[in-house]
Amino acid sequence: MTAEEVWKYYQKDIAAAEQRIKETLGTVAPAIAMVGRHLLEGGGKRIRPLLAILSSKISGYSGEKSSILACCAESIHTASLLHDDVVDGASMRRGQPSAHSLWGNQIAVLVGDYLYSNALWLANSFQSQKIMDALSNATVRMSEGELIQLSKKGSPEISEENYMNIIKGKTAILMSAACRCGAVLADAPQEKENALESFGLKLGMAFQMADDILDYMAEEKILGKNLGKDIEEGKITLPLIYLLREASPDEVEKVRVIIKAEELTKEDLSYILDLLTKYKSIEKSYDKANALLNEAKAELRIFEDSMEKTALLSISDYSLRREK
Ligand code: IPE
Ligand code: IPE
Ligand code: MG
Ligand code: MG
Repeated sequence: MTAEEVWKYYQKDIAAAEQRIKETLGTVAPAIAMVGRHLLEGGGKRIRPLLAILSSKISGYSGEKSSILACCAESIHTASLLHDDVVDGASMRRGQPSAHSLWGNQIAVLVGDYLYSNALWLANSFQSQKIMDALSNATVRMSEGELIQLSKKGSPEISEENYMNIIKGKTAILMSAACRCGAVLADAPQEKENALESFGLKLGMAFQMADDILDYMAEEKILGKNLGKDIEEGKITLPLIYLLREASPDEVEKVRVIIKAEELTKEDLSYILDLLTKYKSIEKSYDKANALLNEAKAELRIFEDSMEKTALLSISDYSLRREK
């Protein structure tokens, strides 16, 4: 089953989650509907809703509440994107101008706040301590992750361990929570809840590593975001960490200058790309992500074979080989 087939097969479930999101956008504040529509229509892969839905189904749940869970996960994600683009000064998102570049930072930040809080308020309707624990903890850890990342901005000394902690917080915890909550919805045994939580965490880390590789390598049109953003803003991600480990003192010095510079020229980017090739830093990053993905997939061994298990395994592979 290819990932594209997975999306097609579960299209109805995803559409139900999208419908829920639309409903949450119909508030008295027009900015929310306006920005929300812009983001929804811009697409997005809906991988977190899919993870929530598949995790609930693989755990034996067949009701309609998974669409609420999926909506909560996607709302938290969307909120984080709105804030992230302000923080990163990113002008493109999902192939369109980012919300802050269309409506300004105030609207982007406030709609982000709304989406965060509304997701938790909505999650409250499950009356489940575990679901509230997972989702509220995710929002806390996401903010921490972004703040730690900010504190490391522009420092080439950042370690692989620092990087792993950052991506765990800013990206993986939410995917992990989406998976765990799926199991909670199904009232699955603790062992299965833990397995899905761990699966989501490892998958999420590999997913962010792929994002960080794509920032250097992707086809800009397909990615829907500008390339080279990370180094431009001094964000040192895995490929660069590996590169800095092996480059000569001269090369390291040049990279340092590029990281510190206000603007990234075409020449700078191509210099970095050449070094990434020279030291096989992209390949090494893929290897690392792949090792994590294998660990993620192994977490699913306690589940019997099923359509959902096949789908989760397929989404795992997709997370790394994706082009956007
Ligand atoms: C982008 O997430 C931010 C990261 C955590 C890497 P996605 O790649 O899931 O973004 P959309 O929702 O598909 O646009
Ligand atoms: C992911 O980091 C940010 C969030 C989890 C919100 P990035 O800053 O790399 O994400 P993109 O590349 O802007 O989507
Ligand atoms: Mg960003
Ligand atoms: Mg990125």
